[in-house]
Amino acid sequence: MNEPIKKIAVLTSGGDAPGMNAAIRAVVRACTYYRVDCIGVYRGYQGLIEGDFEMLSARHVSNIINKGGTILKSARSEEFKTVEGRAKAYENLKKAGVGALVIIGGDGTFTGGLKFIEEFNFPVVGIPGTIDNDIYGTDNTIGYDTALNTVVEVIDKIRDTASSHNRLFFIEVMGRDAGFIALNTGIGAGAEEILIPEKNLGLDRLVESLDKSREKGKTSSIVVVSEGDKIGKNVFELADYIKEKYPFYDIRVSVLGHMQRGGSPSCYDRVLASRLGVAAVEALLDRTSGVMVGVTNNEVTSVGFNKAIKMNHDINEELLKVAEITSV
Ligand code: F6P
Repeated sequence: MNEPIKKIAVLTSGGDAPGMNAAIRAVVRACTYYRVDCIGVYRGYQGLIEGDFEMLSARHVSNIINKGGTILKSARSEEFKTVEGRAKAYENLKKAGVGALVIIGGDGTFTGGLKFIEEFNFPVVGIPGTIDNDIYGTDNTIGYDTALNTVVEVIDKIRDTASSHNRLFFIEVMGRDAGFIALNTGIGAGAEEILIPEKNLGLDRLVESLDKSREKGKTSSIVVVSEGDKIGKNVFELADYIKEKYPFYDIRVSVLGHMQRGGSPSCYDRVLASRLGVAAVEALLDRTSGVMVGVTNNEVTSVGFNKAIKMNHDINEELLKVAEITSV
């Protein structure tokens, strides 16, 4: 642990998110700046187990800051969940002379990182990269802002059809167990109702809200539903329930799906990723390990993996109120 770190490896793991490339670029260039070698690991933890490595220079990461996805590719590795898998990964890192690791991903990625540190005392620092924004210890995760902009753009388009045909649209957005995308895009796109897993508002509330919309003379409505919402089994069942109750509604369902994860990152995500890439390398060179770097109140901060994984990033109650008031 006290030998100087001469080589840092970087990987992306879990679901890809726009801005991951900007983070990789910042890690590689910070390594160049501080005169340490940088190795890219392909396909996340699976590539670590298989030794799928490549030396990366500052020029390898030219022209990627604007690209969605991840040039290092990503995977959800089952083998890394085993002791044997993690032991192979450790051997490969040692063989390649790597002294520390930067992991870019979500809570699954940090859970793997934590285990790795506990078993091998190997220095690891994390960067939050997921469109879901469900990580404690940072105001925004990399990719979240871009996903919000993508979703709002699409809902705006759907609104044209909703209003032209006097339709009720149920739009399902991503966020495995988190309603951040739904709540913020719902407000940003002017939805009548927003359903999120953190607040189980129940079917009655939805029905009440649709009744009110009709009474007020609204001829079309948009309901944004987070994929993790617990009201119905899925958005189609929810739509069926409303159709049965109100046969006069012309209802359509749109599931936005993976289009929310792609595309060129927003400026916000590029800057966030660049800051966090530099911060991760600096943390490792300062002999910090077991933390995720984040940005809170516009300051670079860090939080232990334990907290990042276990604590909740809370839904902002004020936003819920704003959503209610602005949909009257
Ligand atoms: O965590 C990001 C995310 O896009 C979630 O919003 C979604 O539930 C999940 O990944 C989908 O994962 P996959 O691409 O493996 O189907």
